[in-house]
Amino acid sequence: LPDAQVIVVSNREPYIHNLKDDGIELVVPASGLVSALEPITRACAGTWIAYGGGSADRLVVDDKDRLAVPPDKPAYTLRRVWLTEEEQQGYYLGFANEGLWPLCHIAFTRPIFRLSDWETYQAVNRKFADTVVAEARNERPIVLVQDYHFALLPRMIRERLPDAIIITFWHIPWPNSEVFSICPWREQILEGLLGSSIVGFHTQFHCNNFIESVDRFLESRIEREDAAISYGGQTSLVHPYPISIEWPPSRLENAPTIGECRKRIREKFGLSGDIKLCVGVERLDYTKGILDRFQAFEELLEGHPEWIGKVTFLQIAAPSRGTLPAYQQLHEECMSKAEALNLRYGREGYVPVVMVAEHHSQDQVYEIYRAADVCMVTSLHDGMNLVAKEFVAARDDEQGVLLLSMFAGASKELLEALIVNPYDAAMMADALLQALTMAPSEQGQRMKSMRGVVRDNNVYRWAGSMLLDAARLRKRNDIDRA
Ligand code: G6P
Repeated sequence: LPDAQVIVVSNREPYIHNLKDDGIELVVPASGLVSALEPITRACAGTWIAYGGGSADRLVVDDKDRLAVPPDKPAYTLRRVWLTEEEQQGYYLGFANEGLWPLCHIAFTRPIFRLSDWETYQAVNRKFADTVVAEARNERPIVLVQDYHFALLPRMIRERLPDAIIITFWHIPWPNSEVFSICPWREQILEGLLGSSIVGFHTQFHCNNFIESVDRFLESRIEREDAAISYGGQTSLVHPYPISIEWPPSRLENAPTIGECRKRIREKFGLSGDIKLCVGVERLDYTKGILDRFQAFEELLEGHPEWIGKVTFLQIAAPSRGTLPAYQQLHEECMSKAEALNLRYGREGYVPVVMVAEHHSQDQVYEIYRAADVCMVTSLHDGMNLVAKEFVAARDDEQGVLLLSMFAGASKELLEALIVNPYDAAMMADALLQALTMAPSEQGQRMKSMRGVVRDNNVYRWAGSMLLDAARLRKRNDIDRA
């Protein structure tokens, strides 16, 4: 697709500008979507359209709401879209995060669907469609629509730019048709997505669920062998593209040595120099299984008291969607569980659990990965989970053990992790013990193999295979038309 303009659309922007007392602070948000798409957009010199949510975002754009990023080495254009508080409430917090997010993750949090949220969701999707059309330099751009915030956008773009290549990637799981049927606007959601040339998911399983949902709720033609769905004059391919991270990991270039990281992180959190460190790093989200992990840690200390005083759990949880009740409740529960564990097992000079509910920069997170003995990724359900891949990427010493939930897409690729069921605390406690006592040679062999997987299946390959499929599709359409 030589010379085609690449437009990425997501809710979350890759760079947030915030107003601080001493000037403007630049934040890279905690979002797997952002980590994956950023190197791709840089490589394509594309345009990224996203919601400008930072308190200083309006101060740094030009009169067309554009900004060249990354700020220190501009490579592409960030086009910000402004949303009113009402729009954020109805579209982002409401329909996307209280409706679709729990609907798609089987984390037993009841989805909430309000008519007013749905109306705002439609209106905001329309607003982004207008922006895509305004940014398109010709009739045939490649538009990469990201995630569950924009289920209606593909069809809206298709109506106005019929020849665009629209690749929609759904970063979270797709539930089975029974669960999906809860959504009062299920037909409209499916119709919207089927405006895409390609609808991508992380796994074949989620593609199958999507195809089943279409089969059940829309009058469409499904060619199962090609995984192609024809609906409303448009054919969409439904394929799995497991997302990944950049390789080689650019953060490794300037990262402190493993020895320095181990020392620095232990000092920073007031831990003794020789303590074993288990870490969890993610957004403070009920799909991530943070409490289940604490439970497993408790069972370890209870069942193997010889580890009391020898291992600390460091949980970094970036605050997220904090005005929603489900997130506030989780925050409180995590804090009180950590406190209870510290009261019970803590002693002079030993803190069993350090829970830090604060945003950390990517460099800081990298240091934590490099300082850890064990990293626990215990999502109750997750599309892919890039923390697992980032941890592996950070460990060029080929040491460290990854505990990984069988319900994260990453478990289908990182087979040398210790794969666990996050609902089974006893199993996780056993796996934790296995991790803490694993010989360096076995750690090395497992880590080496996982690094090979992430190196080979990196994010450029992810984007490359979608674009290749899109190029084939365009060629076929052009031939059909001629
Ligand atoms: C998940 C979603 C992303 C989202 C990220 C952070 O990874 O798939 O679309 O950006 O969470 O959530 P937030 O609501 O803070 O953008």
